[in-house]
Amino acid sequence: MARTRPGCAALLLVLLLCWPRPCAGGRAPHVVLVLADDLGWHDVGWHGSRLRTPHMDALSAGGVRLQRYYTQPLCTPSRSQLLSGRYQIHTGLQHQIIWPCQPNCHPLDDKLLPELLKEAGYVTHMVGKWHLGMYKKECLPTRRGFDTYFGYLLGSEDYYSHEHCVFISARNVTRCALDFRDGEEVAVEFKNKYSAHVFTERAIDLIASHKTEKPLFLYLALQTVHEPLQVPEEYMKQYDFIKDEKRRHYAGMVSVMDEAVGNLTAALKSYGLWDNTVLIFSTDNGGQTLAGGNNWPLRGRKWTLWEGGVRGVAFVASPLLKQKGVESHELIHISDWLPTLVNLAGGHINGTKPLDGFDVWKTISEGNPSPRLELLHNIDPMFVDNSPCLGIDNRTSLPQNNAFSWDNSLFNLSIHAAIRHGRWKLLTGYPGCSHWFPPPSLIRESMIPSPDPPTKNLWLFDIVQDAEERNDLSEKYPGIVKKMLSRLQYYYKQSVPVFYPDEDPRCDPEATGSWGPWM
Ligand SMILES: *[C@@H]1O[C@H](CO)[C@@H](O)[C@H](O)[C@H]1NC(C)=O
Ligand SMILES: *[C@@H]1O[C@H](CO)[C@@H](O)[C@H](O)[C@H]1NC(C)=O
Ligand SMILES: *[C@@H]1O[C@H](CO)[C@@H](O)[C@H](O)[C@H]1NC(C)=O
Ligand SMILES: *[C@@H]1O[C@H](CO)[C@@H](O)[C@H](O)[C@H]1NC(C)=O
Ligand SMILES: *[C@@H]1O[C@H](CO)[C@@H](O)[C@H](O)[C@H]1NC(C)=O
Repeated sequence: MARTRPGCAALLLVLLLCWPRPCAGGRAPHVVLVLADDLGWHDVGWHGSRLRTPHMDALSAGGVRLQRYYTQPLCTPSRSQLLSGRYQIHTGLQHQIIWPCQPNCHPLDDKLLPELLKEAGYVTHMVGKWHLGMYKKECLPTRRGFDTYFGYLLGSEDYYSHEHCVFISARNVTRCALDFRDGEEVAVEFKNKYSAHVFTERAIDLIASHKTEKPLFLYLALQTVHEPLQVPEEYMKQYDFIKDEKRRHYAGMVSVMDEAVGNLTAALKSYGLWDNTVLIFSTDNGGQTLAGGNNWPLRGRKWTLWEGGVRGVAFVASPLLKQKGVESHELIHISDWLPTLVNLAGGHINGTKPLDGFDVWKTISEGNPSPRLELLHNIDPMFVDNSPCLGIDNRTSLPQNNAFSWDNSLFNLSIHAAIRHGRWKLLTGYPGCSHWFPPPSLIRESMIPSPDPPTKNLWLFDIVQDAEERNDLSEKYPGIVKKMLSRLQYYYKQSVPVFYPDEDPRCDPEATGSWGPWM
């Protein structure tokens, strides 16, 4: 009798731990999600870059490289879709980002990924950049499902001082203040410590102290490789051959990031978590060519709906993958992680609003066709691209042989929008800076100018054949254009209004000395 009791207790424990998770497949996996900031398509070794990423090359070579993976072209939108599984047209975040003084955050009635994983029995940690709003406490990561948080709330800052400067127009003053928190408390003791090291150390501490039966969800949103271009000297040494100053700094930052991923993986292994871990690495958008990034041979860059803005670097590495060492060419989008991970966790999406993401686990793990046939890149009726984009504004000629002229009857062609359906991609309005930017080392030219006149507002590409978006087929396939414009109109009709409030001067951190909730 005495011998059977522990057996029963163990069985009961297993039942309790597994329920409602799928016990047949073992315990729910640990999920480690590493999000890089502004990492470009051409900035990793396996895409042919001269920047060196040996750890990630090896890790992704043993996993699944996502080669047709899409993000949003900007920080806030990508992060909001990642954590909510919903398009911006459904959250009001269609336009730009959440700026420091805007009283805005990801809608509070949306249930986010960490909350759902917590309900599924996970311990949930976040380290790094939030950028989903912070004007009131309810917006903070610790109130949105994360058990712990360590990082900064805004979009960028100094890598060492962890300060961010903002011009507050209503006060006509520029304020620089700390943006760094441990939980909800301001943390001053990390001054002069480089953020990539600080964040990696914290992530490893969390892994080391994960001494529970519960599965772990760790969201590591690195500051790296977003501007300002700052990096400890030693990481740049191996890049003496890069003459462009910005690119050389950026290269050093990429190397720090690669080391961080190496350290993180080593920690998962040495603390015994790796065998049951799914590690996802993703960028949040394309590289910013004005700040060292590169997306060659893709067109455009961060901020734009060209492939250079939205086709992202990503891979999954895990002993749990059924297929390993493969490239996936299936359509996958950043909004797909929420349903994918919640299902993998054995959780349920109870309480979420209608999702735009799909569960793509079998696509990644087994090579099944993607359940995603269509992807709305965005519809932003207020779009402007203010970053310097030489040459585009002085062209005046109209397209030659314009056999087919489209009017606005199906969709307002002035609106910045793009949609993907199967092999087809359609763009309308001004997609953002439209040039190609070769890496400094490759060709003499630092820019291959867009051949399009500024009046052009419609493009159709066979993106499978023409990932570089060189050959507009809109005149050749009017039937497809018509269908895709109707799809855009379908999405546009169900959009919620853009929410982009005026800045609130009460954001001023003068009194507190740090950026944070002011309401
Ligand atoms: C804003 O401040 C600058 C410098 O402090 C000053 O020159 C300028 O006149 C101010 N503008 C307004 C509108 O007050
Ligand atoms: C990785 O670990 C090594 C050895 O502990 C350390 O020197 C290095 O700073 C770490 N790198 C990062 C990015 O944390
Ligand atoms: C979903 O949530 C509702 C309300 O909280 C609850 O009644 C229901 O049982 C939940 N469903 C599942 C599958 O947990
Ligand atoms: C079409 O969209 C543009 C850009 O958003 C807007 O300025 C214009 O008013 C719209 N036209 C119509 C007829 O709605
Ligand atoms: C447009 O601008 C580019 C770069 O500034 C210049 O080289 C070119 O001559 C200009 N073209 C016209 C038509 O003005």
